[in-house]
Amino acid sequence: MNNSLVLGIESSCDETAVALVRGDRTILAQRIASQNEAHERFGGVVPELAARAHADRLAPMVETVLVEAGIALADVDAIAGTAGPGLIGGVMVGLVTAKALAFAAGKPLIAVNHLEGHALSPRLADARLQFPYLLLLVSGGHCQLLGVEGVGRYRRLATTIDDAVGEAFDKSAKVLDLGFPGGPALERAAKNGTPRFALPRPLVGSDEPHFSFAGLKSAVLRARAAIAEPTGQDIADLAASFQQAACDCLTDRTARAIAAFPEATALVVAGGVAANQAIRTALASLAATHGLPFVAPPMWLCTDNGAMIAWAGLERLRTGDVDDLHAPARPRWPLDPSAETVRGAGVKA
Ligand code: KG4
Ligand code: ZN
Repeated sequence: MNNSLVLGIESSCDETAVALVRGDRTILAQRIASQNEAHERFGGVVPELAARAHADRLAPMVETVLVEAGIALADVDAIAGTAGPGLIGGVMVGLVTAKALAFAAGKPLIAVNHLEGHALSPRLADARLQFPYLLLLVSGGHCQLLGVEGVGRYRRLATTIDDAVGEAFDKSAKVLDLGFPGGPALERAAKNGTPRFALPRPLVGSDEPHFSFAGLKSAVLRARAAIAEPTGQDIADLAASFQQAACDCLTDRTARAIAAFPEATALVVAGGVAANQAIRTALASLAATHGLPFVAPPMWLCTDNGAMIAWAGLERLRTGDVDDLHAPARPRWPLDPSAETVRGAGVKA
């Protein structure tokens, strides 16, 4: 099993990514192409542009990865492709590519849940990480606390009742005119600021387990509008204030989940927002307070990539859970289907 080779394909948002990963955690080759230039002037990801860019790039990228690894398609044990959740046009481009390769090579297809890719990615980075662990999954579309009990076994402990934290980063960055993509830009700005603005921390201390970020985002908008001609320092201070408030919300809710999931052997963070250094530091100290090891994948593995999809494929290949070529593309696909919809959560539950 350690010699198994899985090709992973990711195209659910604005990163086109392909990786070839071996069961012993070696990444033989990988490519990640972001589409920032294509979406920048719109200030957000345009689904149709994203799907077309994936369609243009994916096939040559698969070829490059195989050539660089020196591996023939026939030697790959399975093809893993993101089948959702995400922007449906892009998901379809990636999944149909994965299906075509699986069919051509006569190898199994593994239709991977993008969130499971993020959820298992810390195990690609750290061989010591065992189930069960408590996962804070924070990305542009999701903000959840999950009890990860095994491959395919997730217990949702909390989700957002409105915006995902990455979305709040992106929208606050937009309001502050910090550029696109917003999360990393806001983090850079916050480095030069002090958190002197009093911003709300929605649901902190609340008895319900969930997250909420819409009020914080709106408060950034109001604070920005209240300054007629903001200086660079004002903007940096607002960015720092937002980041501090977001950190406080995440750690408060995570502390609550640690109590609700005492079987956890580690606190783990994954997803694009896990690339944020202030958030990593805050979570590391929370884990230390509770005597839990803290695991955060390297930055490049936090944002969307093909290696996490290939790794989820390897984990599923190990359990024998493969798909056939009828696997559907799914715009929504909760990791814990038994979790109830929360108020106001809309598509994000
Ligand atoms: O996981 P990901 O690459 O794509 C989704 O599945 O959503 O996450 C992207 C999100 C975006 O909202 C982006 O702004 C945020 O992760 N992000 C960050 C940072 N790097 C990426 N947010 C805060 N600080 C960062 N350094
Ligand atoms: Zn993602």
